[in-house]
Amino acid sequence: MTVMITGGAGFIGSHICVELIQAGRNVVVYDNFCNSHPEVINRIRRITGTAPEVVKGDVRDVEALISALSAHRFSAVIHLAGLKSVADSVTSSAEYYDCNVVGTLRLAQAMQQTGVRNIVFSSSATVYGEPDVLPLREDHKLAPFSPYGRTKLQAEELLSDIAHSLPPLNVVILRYFNPVGSHESGLIGEDPNDVPNNLMPYISRVAIGRLPVLNVFGNDYPTSDGTGIRDYVHVVDLAAGHVAALDHVHKQKVLKVNLGTGRGTSVLELVDAYTAVSGRTIPFAFAPRRAGDIASYYASGDVAEETLGWRARRDISDMCRDAWNWQQKNPNGYLDQ
Ligand code: NAD
Ligand code: UFG
Repeated sequence: MTVMITGGAGFIGSHICVELIQAGRNVVVYDNFCNSHPEVINRIRRITGTAPEVVKGDVRDVEALISALSAHRFSAVIHLAGLKSVADSVTSSAEYYDCNVVGTLRLAQAMQQTGVRNIVFSSSATVYGEPDVLPLREDHKLAPFSPYGRTKLQAEELLSDIAHSLPPLNVVILRYFNPVGSHESGLIGEDPNDVPNNLMPYISRVAIGRLPVLNVFGNDYPTSDGTGIRDYVHVVDLAAGHVAALDHVHKQKVLKVNLGTGRGTSVLELVDAYTAVSGRTIPFAFAPRRAGDIASYYASGDVAEETLGWRARRDISDMCRDAWNWQQKNPNGYLDQ
């Protein structure tokens, strides 16, 4: 079974490559490396003993996709390639629609032309917007309030429509909550280019001494300690969810599934957990709320369990331990070759 992974050199994609190779699948990475480092392929080989085949290409390039999809008998595509910064999506909206929406459309067209039927798509919990009720179930209303979230929703919608067109596709849409952590080897992990936007890599950089202090955005939310609550999910659990999705994708036209743990953790609880596993002091200061942030949300995992037989196994302590292991072994990310 050969699987194409668009964006396979990125944070989540590299962990999916490892899970798939270890599950005996043949993997082809299709990536333009705009937000990843070629060294990651070498690291995947060091973990699994096998380097995935790599095609350097852009998901908006339909001819390059057709050529890559024609080179093997692909059973499925896992589509992760995309841009993911909420803040950048506000200042560079056209670029986000082009990459995330047009890129998904071109990929679907290339799959239709080459007879590849099955796609697993990386969506995001951000498609829900402000929750009416928690935990978030897949049938909750969808009202994203960033351009990034709207590109994910539009990609979900176009794939769902194409699934019912001719030739049809089978689609599993995975709505990730907050992926964190890294492979237990510490060989692959999250490697943001600039100052991290997200909480866990920011904490890691404070713990290792590359950043002086964590700004905690808001301490007046209606939560237990006043800080924001999220559903952090270990990236290796998330990767296992993709293996389960590949086993399921041919059984149903369109399936939308949350991948989270069902448990909420506040910013201060995450800082405490990281301090406990690292033994490092993590200085923090309260700062104003970040524009567009929601107080609290976490997933219902019922659909994932019932349809994919998947649930997250690793807890917050595991996530912090593995993030810290990666940070310690690679203080400068993939530049530490
Ligand atoms: P990442 O930036 O580490 O990986 C994305 C990969 O896609 C990179 O290797 C990049 O080079 C590649 N890429 C980007 N645009 C491309 C294009 N036009 N053509 C080919 N390759 C391209 O991000 P990640 O955290 O691994 O996220 C993967 C996917 O999961 C994204 O679609 C993201 O929106 C989604 N997602 C991520 C999170 C998160 O918190 N990390 C949460 C929800 C959803
Ligand atoms: N936070 C801080 N300080 C920081 C960074 C974050 O206090 O330096 C807080 C935020 O205010 C929030 C929590 O930590 O309360 C988590 O923030 P992240 O930026 O780590 O994650 P988000 O929930 O804002 O968003 C992430 C991804 C999105 C994705 C979403 C899915 O960035 O792309 O998860 O749930 F869509």
